[in-house]
Amino acid sequence: MKIAVAGKGGVGKTTVSGTVARAIARNGHTVLALDADLNPMLGVSLGVGADETESLIAARQAVAAGEEEHAPTVEEIVQRFGADAPDGVRLIVASRLEIIDPGCMCCGVNPLKLVRELEHGDRTVICDLEAGLGTVEGLKAGDADVVLVVTNPTAKSLDVARRAIELASAVAEVIVLANRVKDDSDLELMRDVLGDRELVVVPEDAVIAEADREGTAAIDLDAGAPGVAALVRLAERLAGAPVAA
Ligand SMILES: Nc1ncnc2c1ncn2[C@@H]1O[C@H](COP(=O)(O)OP(=O)(O)OP(=O)(O)O)[C@@H](O)[C@H]1O
Ligand SMILES: [Mg+2]
Repeated sequence: MKIAVAGKGGVGKTTVSGTVARAIARNGHTVLALDADLNPMLGVSLGVGADETESLIAARQAVAAGEEEHAPTVEEIVQRFGADAPDGVRLIVASRLEIIDPGCMCCGVNPLKLVRELEHGDRTVICDLEAGLGTVEGLKAGDADVVLVVTNPTAKSLDVARRAIELASAVAEVIVLANRVKDDSDLELMRDVLGDRELVVVPEDAVIAEADREGTAAIDLDAGAPGVAALVRLAERLAGAPVAA
């Protein structure tokens, strides 16, 4: 199963990617979490810690600066530009390097191509995309099975979501996450723009905000907090029932 997470900047893509990845892994599945953002912060939301997340970024920069060897294969990218996150999630920084060498796997890598190559067996791959519509536009059939379109109750993020839904629906199943919902008027605003399609409601959650302040994973602070629990339920829906130990 391949999952891509899309939406306007700041709507909660990284929070969703990190929490859903951890929850799927907790259910016994093998999970690869791909950070495709230019400013890769998925490690923090996964609970890898700010320092380790920084060192992953530094490894990518060292390659760009010519201080480190390039990675010639996909599996080497997983090893070299990756870190182990809690619950057995493997984090990979997939963002493009500054220097583009079309002959080099790690320089020329398109995160979506990497998603395609990484999938095999029953691995779940979840990809935190760059903000905006650019990457969604580039999605081809087979790049992702499911696209999670994240939006907030704001006009601008809803406009991006509406267009992302249209683009992604042509190539994958789309699930819309109404994130940071505080009350019924927020939901009404979202329904006005998105119509009566199903919305997975993720309430505004102080635990998620606190996790961000502390540089830790929300699921580690309180997996039962309302926003976190909504994402844990979504993870069960995406990956199926827990795998027996
Ligand atoms: N349900 C929620 N309740 C409270 N705060 C939230 C919720 N979802 C996200 N946030 C907060 O919103 C901010 C942005 O979240 P996040 O970094 O996940 O967004 P993003 O879409 O990945 O942003 P970017 O486009 O910059 O990568 C963070 O401070 C996060 O803690
Ligand atoms: Mg992000």
